[in-house]
Amino acid sequence: MKTIRVINGPNLNMLGIREPDIYGKTDYKALCKMIEDHAKEIGVKVEIMQSNHEGDLVDWIQESYQRIDGIVINPGAYTHTSVAILDAAKAVGVPMIEVHISDVDSREDFRQISYIRAACKKTISGHGVNGYLEAMDELL
Ligand code: DQA
Repeated sequence: MKTIRVINGPNLNMLGIREPDIYGKTDYKALCKMIEDHAKEIGVKVEIMQSNHEGDLVDWIQESYQRIDGIVINPGAYTHTSVAILDAAKAVGVPMIEVHISDVDSREDFRQISYIRAACKKTISGHGVNGYLEAMDELL
């Protein structure tokens, strides 16, 4: 059975509370349940993680080397700042899909820069929390 890792960056644990007009009303716990249910449906093992700390995301990408078949990543604000996360993704070469709940390309200028995009097979942006499930299908 294939294993997919879903890596979430800062403030994604605040879903449902943070700016619901932008990120929707589904909370983080419900998102995790959606991802777990979908993993069962499509027959993959899933590991879901979230941290507010950049180094944790780097560690989890590094750990994926030769262990994980694909990564769904929403680096949150680190999308727009982190060369370290990009370098980790390039180092391990695990197929990766970038997900954003909101449509980052139609928001502030600073959100239109994505470092991680250069290491991703695809970006799914603005499809709400369903974007995570689409990314899992895409990886399969
Ligand atoms: C986000 C978009 C980012 O710009 C923001 O910093 C986030 C969430 C999204 O899922 O839409 O934290 O990645």
